[in-house]
Amino acid sequence: MSKEKFPHVALVGHMGSGKSTVGPLLGKLMKCNHVDLDVVIANQAGRSIGVIFEEKGEKAFRDFEELALESKISNQEPLVISTGGGIVERAANRELLKEKSFVIWLRADTETLVKRVGNHPLRPLLKEKDPLEVFFELDKERAHLYQEIADLEIDTSNTEPSNVSEMLFDSLKSRLGLNHE
Ligand code: S3P
Repeated sequence: MSKEKFPHVALVGHMGSGKSTVGPLLGKLMKCNHVDLDVVIANQAGRSIGVIFEEKGEKAFRDFEELALESKISNQEPLVISTGGGIVERAANRELLKEKSFVIWLRADTETLVKRVGNHPLRPLLKEKDPLEVFFELDKERAHLYQEIADLEIDTSNTEPSNVSEMLFDSLKSRLGLNHE
């Protein structure tokens, strides 16, 4: 594997693809800590992601997001990092993820994404919008960016998070030389 210097595993993909659910399960299997960048940002700002968007706007949120990624990916100890769906929008984030982590793209079909997130009030990009249309646009903008940085991809549409994490762990064991028998 070409990134042996950087043992982090980063989960990328659309909202509702399973990053925040699969991340902790995978961290447990890998016996390493898990961080969710949205949680890091909300804790640091002392307010929810929705409130950050409302009060400061998306650009400010993206600045916080970039800083949170820089900080966590510099961690010496291996981490499983669940990112927000928009992390790939900035080239600097894509570079950092590519260089310093093993990137897993969690995919799901649009119907599944819509079912999972619905009109979730915590997700500002979906607020008062038709989620189908939002995902259609986001997929056009972002799918190729996820693909560009992914070392591995998995479709989570019809698979339970625990099974996704086990499949990923099996695949990582051989690809990253993990040994947790
Ligand atoms: C966003 C996704 C969210 C969160 C913010 C913006 C996006 O994270 O970072 O609402 O731009 O797709 P999840 O992908 O964890 O829902």
